[in-house]
Amino acid sequence: MRLLILGAGGFIGTNLVDHLSRHTDHELVGVDVSDEKLERASYPELTFHQCSFSADVVKQELVDCDVVVDLVAFANPSLYVEKPLDVFKLNFLQNMDIVDLCVEHNKHLIQYSTCEVYGRPTGPTYKEDETELVTGPIAKHRWIYASGKQLLERVIHAHGLEGDLTYSIIRPFNFVGPRFDYLVDAGETGGPRVFAHYMSALLTGGPMYLVDGGEQRRSFTHIDDASRGFETILDDPRAKNEIYNIGNPPNDVSIRELATMMRDIYGDLTKSTPISQLVDISGEEFYGVGYEDHTRVPADIEKLRSLGWEPRHDLDETLRETMAWYLEQEASTIREAS
Ligand code: UGA
Repeated sequence: MRLLILGAGGFIGTNLVDHLSRHTDHELVGVDVSDEKLERASYPELTFHQCSFSADVVKQELVDCDVVVDLVAFANPSLYVEKPLDVFKLNFLQNMDIVDLCVEHNKHLIQYSTCEVYGRPTGPTYKEDETELVTGPIAKHRWIYASGKQLLERVIHAHGLEGDLTYSIIRPFNFVGPRFDYLVDAGETGGPRVFAHYMSALLTGGPMYLVDGGEQRRSFTHIDDASRGFETILDDPRAKNEIYNIGNPPNDVSIRELATMMRDIYGDLTKSTPISQLVDISGEEFYGVGYEDHTRVPADIEKLRSLGWEPRHDLDETLRETMAWYLEQEASTIREAS
C-alpha cells in the first residue's frame, strides 16, 4: 500500500514513519512544513516533501496514494489560547480541503482527531460512540479547538453516510515518547505540553509548575503503543468508517503525581537529586486569559481491543523511556558542541 502521511515531520508523524518503515513494507510518502524532527537519512525509502499541505505536489501525491493519513493540526493548549483563529483555520478549514480531496479522488482517509472532542467528562470513561460531547463557554478558547475537531469528525462521518468516503478516525489520549514537544528555558510558561515542561524544568533546575492545583488527571500513552494502534486500524477492514480511542487507562495520573514521578525517575536516570520544586500557578498566569482546564477521564479502549490491539507500556516505562530519550539528546548536543 502507498500511504501519504500529512504531518510526517511532527511528533506522531515521525514515530509513525519510524514504526511503519521497520514493521511493514508499505510505501511511505511524507509531507510537512518542517523536517526538524525527522532523521531523513534513516529512512531512504521515504519520499518526503517539505512544503505546505496545499502545495500542488501534495495533490499529485494524493492522487497516487491508497491511504491518506491526516495529522495536520495545532494541538498545544497554549496555541489555542494565543491563536484560536489559526487553530480553527488549520485544524478545521485546511483539514476540510484534505477531506474534499479524499472524496474527489476516492481515497481512504485516516484522520487524527483528539480526545478533546469529548470535552468535560460526563462519566467514568469516554466511549467513542456513546459519550456526550460537552464543551464550555465561547470565551474559553479550549473549546474552539475541541469544536473544530468535532465538526471535522461530523463532516467526515456525514461523507461516510453519503457513501462517498471511507475513513477511520483516531482520538489520541496524551501520547508521549521520543521526539515529543520542544524544551523551554527555566521558568517559562505557555508553550509545549506538560511532559516537555517538566522535562525542561528538570534539566534546567527551574520550577515544575502545577497549573490550578495539579489535581486534574491525564492518562499517558506510549507512542509505540499508539503507532501499533494505527497499524491495527489500517489493517483491519472492520475499522472502516469507525472512530477509535487510542489510550492507556491504567496510566491515569494526576498532574501533581506526574511531576513527582518524573522527579523520581529523573533522579534515578541521572543518579542525581533534582533541584526543581513543584510550584503552584493559575491557568491564566500560565497560559493567558481564556484558558480553561479540565480533568480528563480515561479512554474506554474496548473498541480497539476488539481488533486485537493492547497497550503494552505502563506509566513508569512510558515516562522513563521518553525521559531517557531527552537525556540522550542533551548528551549528544553537549558532545557535538565540545
Ligand atoms: C493537549 C491537547 O489539547 C490535546 O488535543 C492533545 O490531545 C493532548 O494535549 C495530548 O497530548 O494528547 P492537555 O492534556 O491539556 O491537552 O495538554 P498538556 O499541556 O499536556 O496539559 C496537561 C495538564 O497539565 C493540564 O491540566 C495543564 O494545565 C497542566 N500543566 C501543563 C501543568 O500543570 N504544568 C505545566 O507546566 C504544563
